[in-house]
Parts: sequence; C-alpha cells; structure tokens
Amino acid sequence: MRTPIIAGNWKMHKTIDESVAFVKELAPKLATYTGVERVVAPTFLSVAAVAAALKETAIKVSAQNVHWEDSGAFTSQVSPMMLKGLVEYVIIGHSECRAYLDETNEGVNKKAKALLAHGLKPIIAVGESLAQNEAGETHSFVGGQVRAALNGISAEDMGNVVIAYEPIWAIGTGKSASSQQANDIIAGTVRASIRDLYGDAVADSVRIQYGGSVKPNNMADYMSQPDIDGALVGGAALKVDDFTELVRLAAEAKGV
Ligand code: PGA
Repeated sequence: MRTPIIAGNWKMHKTIDESVAFVKELAPKLATYTGVERVVAPTFLSVAAVAAALKETAIKVSAQNVHWEDSGAFTSQVSPMMLKGLVEYVIIGHSECRAYLDETNEGVNKKAKALLAHGLKPIIAVGESLAQNEAGETHSFVGGQVRAALNGISAEDMGNVVIAYEPIWAIGTGKSASSQQANDIIAGTVRASIRDLYGDAVADSVRIQYGGSVKPNNMADYMSQPDIDGALVGGAALKVDDFTELVRLAAEAKGV
C-alpha cells in the first residue's frame, strides 16, 4: 500500500509571517489524518521559520527548488546541504521552473541525484504542454522526462523518490485533466516507464501524484483512481480550509 502524499506548493506566495501563521492554523486541523503524508512547500525565505513552527508536528516541509552543487559561485542558488535538517522534500522540475528558469531534464537529474545523496527526497514534476497533448505526444514526452530524470538513480534510492504528473495546460488554469485521463497517463506512461527501468517491485511502490487545478471539488475523483497516490497542489493549498479538505478527502478515498 502506497501512503498517499498531499503537498502544497505555495509558489511565490506568503511572507515569512504569513507562512508561519498559516501552518500554525493548519497543523492542528491536519493532525488526525495520520495515514496521509502532509507536506507544505514555502519559498526558500520561509523554509526555516516554517520548519521551526512544524517541528513538533508530523507535517513535513519541502523546498521548491535546489541547486545540485553543495556550495560555490552560484548567485541566488540554495544547495541540498543548506536544506538538510530543514526539509524532507524538494520539488524539482516544476513546469514553471522548466519554462521560466531554463530547467532542463539534465538539471533535474543532477538535482535528484544530489538530493538523494544528501538524504533528501525529490518530488520530480513532469508533464506535457497543451500542444504536445493535442499532437498525441504525451506518452513519448512525459516518458522521456521520467527516464531522463531518473538516469543513474538506483532502485534502492527510488524508495525516496516521488513523481508528480502535472499536465502544463492544467496548472493554475482551472482546466484539469479528467481523473481517468490522469490515471491513464500515470499508470500507462509514468509508472510504466519506471517499470521498464526498475521492474515491478519498484514501479508498484513509487508514489505518483497528480497536479493541476486540484481542488476540494475534484479531489475525491482523483484519489479514487488506483494509480494516483496523492496531489501536488498550488492554488487550493493557499487556504487552510481547502488544504484541510484535500487531506480529509484523500484519507477518505484511500481508506487510511
Ligand atoms: P495549481 O498548481 O493547483 O494551482 O494548478 C499546481 C502546481 O503547479 O503544482
């Protein structure tokens, strides 16, 4: 049984004070849903304060990006070494980073390896554009992203990897993939690529999230799909009540 994982990607939202106030309100509301892994991803600036505020809780912290080097002349960057002890997860390969920060498959792979080497867990985001989707290229493109991201990663390390399938056309648009569509790609492309690379045991244990306009009103539908193990959520994760509802619905749908 794969433990469902719901991660709130706050993107460039919330000041330090707002982030801390948010998690202080959120933590007690999520306390009962212990069968679901609950993760918040604030900006780098708020990571330390949020980690301190969540110290006595089971809610985990994620960063939204990382550099692959430990240190060096990389102005503006943050290394896995600096995040160690503060976060458990780091989102890499988000489509916004691929689009605006020139994130490449090669970079995602280097980041994934660096994180795993430091005992941190990558949430690797993959997903196709609307044009690719309409051209029928989803399977080859997303499969290629998965294979490139995992290049050289051992089967053992795969136990610490989460993949988030986020069709770009569904992110922040209110336009979501149907739960059936999402499950088909997650099972037939993402999990199938992992199966080709690592075999059944790894493929059946890796957790794969869906992301893209996940809201309380469509959450139960996604979570009722067998291959969807959780969600990477932007907009709806910025409100305490919505976040709580997402976690509750995941726990209910997965029976945990
Ligand atoms: P959204 O963002 O839920 O606002 O669509 C998801 C994401 O970008 O991770």
